Amino acid sequence: TVPVVLDCDTGIDDTLALLYLLQHPAAEVVAVLSTAGNVPVDVVAANNLGWLDYCGHAEIEVFPGAEGPLVADLMTCEDTHGPHGIGYAELPAANRQVSERTASDAWIELTRDRPGELVGLVIGPLTNLALAIRKDPDLPQRLHRLVIMGGTFNYPGNTTPTSEWNIAVDPEAAHEVFTAFGIDGAPQPIICSLPLTEQVAFTPDHLVRLAEAAGSVPVERPSAADDHGLRSATSNSTVRLLTDALRFYFEFHHDHDEGYLAHVHDPFAAAVALDPGIVRTQPAVVDVELAGSLTRGTTVADTRGFWGRQPNALIATETDVPAFFDDLLSRLAELARRIG
Ligand code: BDR
Ligand code: CA
Repeated sequence: TVPVVLDCDTGIDDTLALLYLLQHPAAEVVAVLSTAGNVPVDVVAANNLGWLDYCGHAEIEVFPGAEGPLVADLMTCEDTHGPHGIGYAELPAANRQVSERTASDAWIELTRDRPGELVGLVIGPLTNLALAIRKDPDLPQRLHRLVIMGGTFNYPGNTTPTSEWNIAVDPEAAHEVFTAFGIDGAPQPIICSLPLTEQVAFTPDHLVRLAEAAGSVPVERPSAADDHGLRSATSNSTVRLLTDALRFYFEFHHDHDEGYLAHVHDPFAAAVALDPGIVRTQPAVVDVELAGSLTRGTTVADTRGFWGRQPNALIATETDVPAFFDDLLSRLAELARRIG
C-alpha cells in the first residue's frame, strides 16, 4: 500500500479526494493535515474530522494547520465551496477534536518516523509544508514522493487571469516549497495543474452512475430543471451527501459559463499520488511570480533551460480521463455500499 499524508483545505473536491483514498485498497491514509484556503482552517478541520468519522476512520488523526498564508492576507472562496466548504451537504459533526500538534510538526514528525516511505499529497495552499521546511530543511529528502495540485502553465487561471487558487492563496509558500524540492536527493514533485485537472469534469451523469453502482434509488437523469434533477431522493445517505456537495459545485461552474459540471482537481491528484503511472509528465524548472502587479501567484515553468537550473518538478500533462472516473466512481460506490 501507498502511505499518504494528505494536506488539504476541505473543500468539495478535497472531500472526494479524502473519500477516494479512504476506500482505496492501495492507500493508507497516514494523517490528514488541515490548512486555510477554500474556507478558514477551523472549518476545514471540522470537515476533515466529520468525513473521517462518517467513513468509520476515527483512528486517523486530524492536524490543525496554518490559519493563513506566510505573508499574504487570507482569502477564502465560500462562493465556490459553500459556506461550510462542502456545498449543500449537511455532514454530522464529529465528536472528537483535532490533534494538539500542528500540521507543520506533523510533516516533520511523520517523515522522521518513516523516512523515505511517505507520499505527500497537498491539495490546498502549501503553507503547512513551507512552515515545516523552514523548521526542518532536511524534510524534503525524507519524502518518497510529493504530489501537488496547483498552478497553471500557459493556460488561464481560476483565481486571477494567470494564477490558480492553491498557489494564489499563498505564493510565498509555494515558492519556498518548489525551491526546496528536486535538489539534494529530494524528489521532484509531480504537479497536477489546471490544463490537466480542468479536463477532469464530474458531471450529473457520473452521479447517476454512482447512485446506480451504490444500489441506491438513482438520482434522476439531468433535465432542464434548474436543479437538473439532482434534488430527488436517494436511499443512500453517502450518495445523498455527495450529491448535495456536488450540486453546489456544479452550480458554481455553471454560473461561470463552464457548464453544469465540476472540475475535480483534488481526487485526480490523489489518484496520481497512488499511481504516478497514470500521467505523462514533463520535467521543468517551476517557480512562482511573487512581485508582479498583474501576475503575482502565477506559476512559471522553464522547460528550455533559460534559467540554467536543473528541473525541480514534473508537470503532469496527459491522462486517461475515463479510466480515472471508472476508478473514482468504483471507490465512491464501494464506500456508499459499505456505509449506506
Ligand atoms: C484548487 O482550488 C480549490 O478550490 C480546489 O479544492 C482545488 O484544490 C483548484 O484550483
Ligand atoms: Ca483543495
